[in-house]
Amino acid sequence: MKLFLDTANLEEIRKVAAMGLLDGVTTNPTLVSREKGAFKDILRNICEVVPGPVNAEVVSTDTEGMLKEGHELAKIHPNIVVKIPMTRAGLVAVRKLSSEKIPTNVTLIFSPNQALLAAKAGASYVSPFLGRLDDISHVGMDLVRQIVAIFDNYEFETEVLAASLRNPVHIVEAALAGADISTLPAKVFDQMFDHPLTDIGLRKFLEDWEKVKQTI
Ligand code: G3P
Repeated sequence: MKLFLDTANLEEIRKVAAMGLLDGVTTNPTLVSREKGAFKDILRNICEVVPGPVNAEVVSTDTEGMLKEGHELAKIHPNIVVKIPMTRAGLVAVRKLSSEKIPTNVTLIFSPNQALLAAKAGASYVSPFLGRLDDISHVGMDLVRQIVAIFDNYEFETEVLAASLRNPVHIVEAALAGADISTLPAKVFDQMFDHPLTDIGLRKFLEDWEKVKQTI
């Protein structure tokens, strides 16, 4: 499973990229609104440090506007993926961009039918938002399982990008469900490293090594 960071913060992205563990980045208007600087500069800077897809979202709600924005975004860098909301107008834009070989990610997916339609429109990625389903007492991960099964049945090439992940258990479950990608806030990415038994074990090894050291 590929791991993306769900952030527009360059420092967060640099840290994980420097470890060689970053496969891509997702942004959205909310995440970009937390950063300083011009939208396109933010994206350009992110593209310079990320060795994979960088998702940038359109804000138009009509097909024509989405296509105009999508073309502008795609010009920023070859790694840009145009994020399009799951609407009727959005899927028309996805079909057109996909015919031009511009990669797209259909976002705000909350049902398997929405994912099926997006895949049929030629989306490169679909983004089911798990945490937001959990928030309203649905099991978000069931949606990922359903989408993965449907895409497998019909051999769609569209990748399943599990989004709105809020904790390390979400990542394990998304991996078990067969999601192609998980996109994580930096804090959750960091939590993946930790286990108290690792810390205790390392402390003990180092203490014991002190005794061995005296014999060297
Ligand atoms: O990738 C989508 C993500 O940014 C949404 O996350 O936590 O706002 O539901 P959240």
